[in-house]
Amino acid sequence: MSTTHTSDLKIIKAETSKIDTVDFSNLTFGANFTDYMFECDYKDGVWQTPTIRPYGDLTMSPAAKVFHYGQAVFEGMKAYKDDNGDVFLFRPQQNIERINKSSKRMAIPEFPEEILMNALKTIVSMEKAWVQPGTGNSLYIRPFVIATQVGVSASPSTEYKFMIIMAPVNAYYIGDVKVVIADHFSRSADGGVGGAKAAGNYGAQFYPTNLAKEKGFQQIIWTDSNEHKYLEEAGTMNVFFRINDTLITAPISDRILDGVTRKSILKLAEKAGVKTEVKKLTVSELVAATKNGSLKEIFGAGTAAVVSPVSAFSFEEHIYDLEKQEDSYATTFKTQLMDIQYNRAEDSFNWRIKVD
Ligand code: COI
Repeated sequence: MSTTHTSDLKIIKAETSKIDTVDFSNLTFGANFTDYMFECDYKDGVWQTPTIRPYGDLTMSPAAKVFHYGQAVFEGMKAYKDDNGDVFLFRPQQNIERINKSSKRMAIPEFPEEILMNALKTIVSMEKAWVQPGTGNSLYIRPFVIATQVGVSASPSTEYKFMIIMAPVNAYYIGDVKVVIADHFSRSADGGVGGAKAAGNYGAQFYPTNLAKEKGFQQIIWTDSNEHKYLEEAGTMNVFFRINDTLITAPISDRILDGVTRKSILKLAEKAGVKTEVKKLTVSELVAATKNGSLKEIFGAGTAAVVSPVSAFSFEEHIYDLEKQEDSYATTFKTQLMDIQYNRAEDSFNWRIKVD
């Protein structure tokens, strides 16, 4: 291995690449990782030298706090390749700000934004060959922070590790998604961590989601924990409802993640002249709209899942099927979003960042 320094970023080069061992036509989401990873440790009150080095296992004490108290946050973002081979990030500043917001909520020190942006661009630039062109193909980028201090006292760690790992991916959900509307379990509560991308938010959903899967559903649409009255978000996505021609999504709160795809779709819809409403929609309004025919679509929106149409939802043991719409908003805004991400359309919002 050779070691070089690029300004403050230390780069340790890999001797070989494992890219030839990967079957890009047959990828499991997030199962194959690229040649490099980014790593930066926090100790003595400061973030140490940011380093890009060959991807590999970590050696950690079993007493590291992350294993005991789940003090961990993460992000999900993607790099896209156009037909000329140029690579782009999509609104990376949003993810940078959000991981710091999540960190703050989890008592983790924030990471310097400029160092993170530079590290992101550099590591993606080094791994351009792993970004496959073609609609649906992308490089999923997973920044995360874990508490590494050794000791099982229940207090915030004094040491952390910030990392970025990356995986070539294509679709997260194959086909339409069927969802259960939560009437018992909850994802988040007022004053809780639902608005943060805290690792435990996802782990806590696995059990109720498994129960839903046993009944043939892929996801849960979470409702508020007080009354199970308001529709909030799905496990890995924010959720949109189209009632007549109005696109409705729940307002961001400390229970709901401020999704980058969500806010991008709202902008695209506004630009297209579609009426949008960011408001609390109740389950009974949804059921009534289904029964009177005004509910046209439900779709999820998230980085991994992009835009995922919901083909049916279940509530209190009733299953409500949704008919496919010819003028589907899910299809329209997914296409518009991807055209921007893959550099096939004008980017009037300046969302794309080219990676040199
Ligand atoms: C993302 O869309 O990046 C997510 O965070 C979903 C992930 C849990 C697969």
